[in-house]
Amino acid sequence: MPASNIRIDGERLWSTLMETAQFGATELGGLRRLTLTDEDKQVRDWFRAACTDAGCTVSIDEMGSIFARRSGSDPAAAPILFGSHLDTQPTGGKFDGILGVLAGLEVMRTLNAFGYTTRHPLEAIDWTNEEGSRFAPAMVASGVFGGAFTRDFAWARTDHDGVTLADALARIGYRGDLPCGGRKPAAYFELHIEQGPILEAARETIGVVTGIQGIKWVDMTVTGQASHSGTTPMPVRRDALVGAAQIVAVARSIAERHAPSARATVGRFEVAPNSRNVVPGSVQLTVDIRHPDANVLATMHAALLDEARRAVAPLDIAFETVNDSPPIAFDPICIDAVREAAQRLRLPAREMVSGAGHDAAYLARVCPTGMIFIPCEGGLSHNEIENATFADVAAGAQVLLEAILAADQRLP
Ligand code: HGY
Ligand code: MN
Ligand code: MN
Repeated sequence: MPASNIRIDGERLWSTLMETAQFGATELGGLRRLTLTDEDKQVRDWFRAACTDAGCTVSIDEMGSIFARRSGSDPAAAPILFGSHLDTQPTGGKFDGILGVLAGLEVMRTLNAFGYTTRHPLEAIDWTNEEGSRFAPAMVASGVFGGAFTRDFAWARTDHDGVTLADALARIGYRGDLPCGGRKPAAYFELHIEQGPILEAARETIGVVTGIQGIKWVDMTVTGQASHSGTTPMPVRRDALVGAAQIVAVARSIAERHAPSARATVGRFEVAPNSRNVVPGSVQLTVDIRHPDANVLATMHAALLDEARRAVAPLDIAFETVNDSPPIAFDPICIDAVREAAQRLRLPAREMVSGAGHDAAYLARVCPTGMIFIPCEGGLSHNEIENATFADVAAGAQVLLEAILAADQRLP
């Protein structure tokens, strides 16, 4: 059976996307499936059972990532990995991450249906905590796998309630025994929605992703002094919120100075004691800055710390850089496999750098890596109304399958 005659089943893939959307479903049709919550456990259990039913051998590593392995004809060959993440943002959508994980299951089911055995073993993956919303940094499990973080650093990360990642893993029964990382896959592919407006605006179906821009996350605490809102004269106040509010303007100004590629976002803003008649004593805020060029990102980061400190003076400010993912370039072998698959399938495509972070950023440290994008409606993501079309989902999964099969032919 020539590989080019093997076709994924779009209906079957779409039905898995809609079926798993029940786990953490929100009233607006999105998902709230924060990592290692009960909802995440429900979809993980579903994925494990589906992969087992597809004849895969399922293992869980120390970071809770799920690996569903399908044997190849050459057991000595390094495996070709593919996957993404099942966790979502607090108000996430039905495609971010999940698409790549379920497309991996669809690849296994399709090869079974066509009775096709690859030479390399294959592993479909769900990476723990890609989003970084509950536990920072983002992509922490793939980061341990790729050698960017130690397991113990990751295990010790705490959420807003002080729960450690290790305890959260154990609570849902996903702190596996398989060592995380320390092995060299043959290649890694990830299918994902673009999460931006480029493909839809250009009416193109496939993004041949050449790399991922750099990301830095800085947690800040501005400290003033809580005092009575009625009795404290304005000139003597140490109002932490007045200081912190300047940082929003500083972040935006830095992004504007490095337009058009720079991004800066203040996503969390927590005022204490958060009472209407108390002058805020402290504010905790998060700043997410991004740029495709490492030097520019470093310049933005230095400017952010310096200008934030000056903006809040004489109030105190503390910084913690909790995520530092440098820009990465994918491997030409994988980029070519994706581009040629799109050409073979006559799908309009373009090369592009990812604005969003992905687990592929850390896999690229240990093996040839590539990504495939499909459009999402209005370029919107990290929003409950996130949407993609059946046709694009099916096309993206077919490109994933064909890129995997091409890599199987070409890689040692
Ligand atoms: O932050 C990101 O870019 C990814 O969605 N975690
Ligand atoms: Mn994602
Ligand atoms: Mn996301």
